[in-house]
Amino acid sequence: MHRKLIRPLFPWLILLPLLILLLYSLTASLRAPISPSPRPKKISASLTCDLFKGQWNRDPNRRPIYDETCPFHRNAWNCLRNQRDNMGSINSWKWVPQTCDLPQIDPFRFLDLMRNRNIGFVGDSLNENFVTSFLCSLRVADLGAKKWKRKGAWKGAYFPNFNVTVAYHRAVLLAKYKWQPKYSASGDQSQSEGVYRVDVDIPADDWANITNFYDVLVFNTGHWWGYDKFPKETPLVFYRAGRPILPALEMLDGLKLVLKHMVSHIQKEIPRKTIKFWRLQSPRHFYGGEWNQNGSCLFNEPLQESQLDIWFDPSNNGVNREARTINRLINEAVRDTGIEILDLTHMSEFRADAHPAIWLGRKDAVAVWGQDCMHWCLPGVPDTWVDILSELISHHSKMG
Ligand SMILES: *[C@@H]1O[C@H](CO)[C@@H](O)[C@H](O)[C@H]1NC(C)=O
Ligand SMILES: *[C@@H]1O[C@H](CO)[C@@H](O)[C@H](O)[C@H]1NC(C)=O
Ligand SMILES: *[C@@H]1O[C@H](CO)[C@@H](O)[C@H](O)[C@H]1NC(C)=O
Repeated sequence: MHRKLIRPLFPWLILLPLLILLLYSLTASLRAPISPSPRPKKISASLTCDLFKGQWNRDPNRRPIYDETCPFHRNAWNCLRNQRDNMGSINSWKWVPQTCDLPQIDPFRFLDLMRNRNIGFVGDSLNENFVTSFLCSLRVADLGAKKWKRKGAWKGAYFPNFNVTVAYHRAVLLAKYKWQPKYSASGDQSQSEGVYRVDVDIPADDWANITNFYDVLVFNTGHWWGYDKFPKETPLVFYRAGRPILPALEMLDGLKLVLKHMVSHIQKEIPRKTIKFWRLQSPRHFYGGEWNQNGSCLFNEPLQESQLDIWFDPSNNGVNREARTINRLINEAVRDTGIEILDLTHMSEFRADAHPAIWLGRKDAVAVWGQDCMHWCLPGVPDTWVDILSELISHHSKMG
């Protein structure tokens, strides 16, 4: 009697849960197209959240994801290897946007999202600093990463497991420029006298041929537009359509013109579907003098918010005032062009503590070059730039 009852029940004991599962997965797949992503909270966060406004909080649990053994390091920025003081402290600060959380990059997830796509950086050594952090971060997910230097790239890597290339094209002014020596009456070239000819309407060779290769591009120029790089005795002379512009332009007027032409070149030549960013200035932190006047950045902590204007507002005429001035010109040139601004300036202004300073990996370097209060230690602040950039790229990619 007992047995008879159990028998017909037995198949149902198995079938019922299966039926429930089947129903559940059916309704789940019906719901799927409506729900935008498995991480809806984060998507809406990057839609509504300004990742560039926030503060640095101490987070003793934060750890860099790479170390001094990364093969893409540049010696002078490899602060762990150079045994810079304070590296633990430098990397214990976490950037916290005002209205959301900024996660550290997940290199596996990011490279998977980027499969068969390429990311390019074009600009000066601060973009190299940026890309170096990016390469070291991504390599964590693909130890077979190979150095890659084609198509005019200065530095880069190919990630074979994902078929992704990330590379940097060095073009410090973005426009083409070259040394033009002065000829003496006898026709001899002078070694030290001459000018730098800048063709404001021609992109530098280093990135002339990359139009279709990259799916994401990050541009910058700015750190070379100063009289320490191009002193009055060997100035920049601006040309357009192959002829010198007269009357001769001051440096920042030349920058304006270069920005205008490079932005319109990007709009014309680079496909619409390419995601384009323009990185604003990385602030310098020379204290007490310029780089060649014993300027120093031996700080143990980030600056306070209340100190930033004193350091950086151009009206205070401080050593590092140029960043905000140049940013204004870039913002004007890039407005309404479809190129997205990467405003890493404000967040980086705090970080007077995070430059290589005197730990440059070579004994004589400080005596010759002064402290480096311009580039950043790696691991360090550019890792947070990478977190932000990868978040923005992910957001674009998920939106289609
Ligand atoms: C790798 O990516 C490139 C695009 O960058 C694509 O043209 C190529 O077919 C991909 N190769 C493989 C093996 O998927
Ligand atoms: C760019 O491409 C053109 C045409 O294919 C070629 O003549 C030129 O040498 C290339 N420039 C660089 C820097 O690779
Ligand atoms: C920099 O410091 C050195 C050593 O203290 C000193 O000899 C030199 O005069 C200083 N230079 C400037 C420009 O202040």
